[in-house]
Amino acid sequence: MLRLLCHVLSLLVVGHSSAVKNCHPGCRCKVENFGQFDSFSLTRVDCSGLGPAASMPVPIPLDTTHLDLSSNTMGPLSDSMLTGPGYTTLISLDLSSNHITKISLNALCRLRYLENLDLSDNSLESLSSRALAGLPLAEVDLSYNSFQNFDMDVFATKVNGEPVIVDLSHNQIRSVSRGDQGGVPLIQSLSLTANRLTDVPALGGLPLRYLNLDDNPIVSIREGAFSQLKDLVHLSLSGMNQLREIQPHGFEGLESLQVLDLSENPELKMLSLAIFTGLESLQELNLSNSGVTSLPSNMLAHLPSIKSIVLGQGIQCRRTQKQGQFHWQLGQVTHNDVLTCNVAGVVV
Ligand SMILES: *[C@@H]1O[C@H](CO)[C@@H](O)[C@H](O)[C@H]1NC(C)=O
Repeated sequence: MLRLLCHVLSLLVVGHSSAVKNCHPGCRCKVENFGQFDSFSLTRVDCSGLGPAASMPVPIPLDTTHLDLSSNTMGPLSDSMLTGPGYTTLISLDLSSNHITKISLNALCRLRYLENLDLSDNSLESLSSRALAGLPLAEVDLSYNSFQNFDMDVFATKVNGEPVIVDLSHNQIRSVSRGDQGGVPLIQSLSLTANRLTDVPALGGLPLRYLNLDDNPIVSIREGAFSQLKDLVHLSLSGMNQLREIQPHGFEGLESLQVLDLSENPELKMLSLAIFTGLESLQELNLSNSGVTSLPSNMLAHLPSIKSIVLGQGIQCRRTQKQGQFHWQLGQVTHNDVLTCNVAGVVV
């Protein structure tokens, strides 16, 4: 009885796969059914590495939700390469490792449910602000491309040919010409790892929660560089061999930031106290293998939420409270907190 119940439950909750009609030879297709009476399904189609003779568009089953077209040497993306039945229902599309140098204006415009787009490991230098217009993108991977700068307009422009007026007052982007949804950027996660950015791009006004700028030739983080990314939770600025300076107030405005990764930045030697202003929510700071060997005194007073700091090679510091001076007021920062590290002699 119990076994039967488990079986029924697994069908209801975990879902199961079934065969797919019209799967192109060379692709692997899978349908996953979920919910009571299989009321919800995902069709995953993997057409990666089809070989040099593959012609685009590859026919895919109707209702495909996830499509992997990586490693197909597609080259410049033309208006016709992603067309046909099945493409209009895509939620997730992987176009990584395809030697893509350009994306024509209407190449992606039919993918109106697309939330997740992977364009990593291509040769893009720029994106027209119309190329992604109107797509409900939440997660975009542009790592390992050749962007020298990046314009946030890419995520906020026209929908259905109607211009969307972006209202930047009150630090909010609102679409004026359509309802509450249309034209409002939904982008939450953006990776620009390993591009050619020499400055932090102006991404102000995007509702980003995760941003990765690792491995770019950025020399300095300027005052207010992230000032309008108030929803950002995770910021990664690791592996920047040329990063020498973070200006005071460089992280100001990042009021939701919980994780800051500054590891593997060997030229970054000094952090002034004013760098940490505004980081009210910061819990984890990673300075592992950076040039920073000591931390400014009184730093904890600026970082009320900090739990852990990693320094040097494997030095882990955690916030603890000095014994005998325990304060009972909940939610208040006591000034008796100290950083305790796993290596003796580290003075913070
Ligand atoms: C800190 O960064 C290093 C190097 O990037 C990484 O190996 C390590 O896992 C990170 N530590 C934490 C606590 O995130």
